Amino acid sequence: MNLSTMVELAYLVSAVLFVVGLKRMQSPATARPGNALAATAMLVAIIATLVDNQVLDWTGILIGIVVGGGIGAVAARTVKMTAMPEMVGLFNAFGGGASALVAAAEFVRLHHAGMTMDTGTGITIALSMLIGAVTFSGSIVAFGKLNGMVTGNPVTFPGQKPVNALLFLAILVLGVGVAGVLALGSLTPLSTFWIFSGLALLLGILLVIPIGGADMPVVISLLNSYSGLAASAAGFIIGNMVLIISGALVGAAGLFLTMLMCKAMNRSLANVMFGAFGQSGGTAAVGSGEKKPVRSVDAEQAALVMAYAQSVIVVPGYGLAVAQAQHELKKVMDLLSDRGVDVKYAIHPVAGRMPGHMNVLLAEADVSYDRLYDLDEINDDFKNTDVVLIVGANDVVNPEARNPDSVIAGMPILDVDYARNVIVVKRSLSPGFAGIDNPLFYLDNTMMFFSDAKKAMSDVVKEVREA
Ligand code: TAP
Repeated sequence: MNLSTMVELAYLVSAVLFVVGLKRMQSPATARPGNALAATAMLVAIIATLVDNQVLDWTGILIGIVVGGGIGAVAARTVKMTAMPEMVGLFNAFGGGASALVAAAEFVRLHHAGMTMDTGTGITIALSMLIGAVTFSGSIVAFGKLNGMVTGNPVTFPGQKPVNALLFLAILVLGVGVAGVLALGSLTPLSTFWIFSGLALLLGILLVIPIGGADMPVVISLLNSYSGLAASAAGFIIGNMVLIISGALVGAAGLFLTMLMCKAMNRSLANVMFGAFGQSGGTAAVGSGEKKPVRSVDAEQAALVMAYAQSVIVVPGYGLAVAQAQHELKKVMDLLSDRGVDVKYAIHPVAGRMPGHMNVLLAEADVSYDRLYDLDEINDDFKNTDVVLIVGANDVVNPEARNPDSVIAGMPILDVDYARNVIVVKRSLSPGFAGIDNPLFYLDNTMMFFSDAKKAMSDVVKEVREA
């Protein structure tokens, strides 16, 4: 077997490992080994590429591995769970930027060598540059909006849509030129290519600035999909099969995830992209401002209600992540389990601020996967449940979603208000992400436990032990 056959074989193995790894990420129980398989696939692909005889400069490659690997390792170790979406945003930017650079390098190389290209290569160079540049600049803006460097409010200006449409038209015309569709046999001047690239970068910025900071997780998932498509196009340029396949997988997976997130919020992708909703954590439309009575409890009362219940369902939300209360929560639930209480966790698909946020958080605290139930699996159980303990969740349990006039009308929610008792742990009556009041807090079967979630859970641990 010669070297090139071995390299092709390694690419095939790597592609299969990517597919199997992705498939295993469908369930929390198999996600970790799935991730390990995908990482192995990447290692195989990198080694195959390096032993292939096309590497020109080993020093550059080694510096890249050390610097890139070092930054990745430090980022993965130090990033806070609540800052994960912005880190993913930044990494998407790098992915898109890399694909754009591959396109630019190939176009410049052809120019300097005085060569021509076939239309297929031309189209992939234009697509890789367009999608890669949009992903790069759009992701940098998304990253800035999430970490506060750029305003989280939608940035709009008069004539924004016509400007975007004109820009897109100009990019399309220049793209046809760059791809060489109309000028077979001669390359478009480099200056046209650079203007095309600059406009693509501008388009990425203009597409993301009108979107509210609170919608950034959906945008980041969409940009993640774009980064995959850009990588796939770059794979066509350099004739690398594994890049084509892995890019297409990222593109498809990112698109599915985006659609799932939109569905779980009952919003269309167009509404997210152009609806200027959720202006960075939202204070809009908070009830009528009148003071309504609520029933509040302390740690002792909450512990007693749960300790003498037969069934408890926990609903975790964004506040659990903010407070980092997952370990204390697990202690409470273990104590209740030891007392014979039936304990389950209800996971809403968009609880928190990123896909799978609650699964990751609870996995960190070693909560067993078989205790976690999806919205569809558990919604019928609430009416037969003694106590629902809501920790830092708000929108995902807001019965207002059943009101057709509400901003969150139609959003699938966990039907916690049907349970016999509801304990809500949060610091105040303030709204969640959607910025609307939650009538659940004022119901007769609801008890408000006003506290930071971590402190609340550690106080409840002591009280349950004494109960
Ligand atoms: P939210 O509706 O955002 O509510 C979180 C609650 O946590 C807040 O009301 C806050 O109340 C409380 N909280 C914050 N810090 C706390 C602390 N230290 N201790 C105790 N409580 C604390 O969260 P949710 O129910 O998880 O819903 C998620 C929302 O994000 C949905 O609207 C969803 O559409 C949106 N979203 C999610 C995603 C994904 S993929 N997950 C993506 C985009 C948008 P206090 O300030 O009173 O404590």
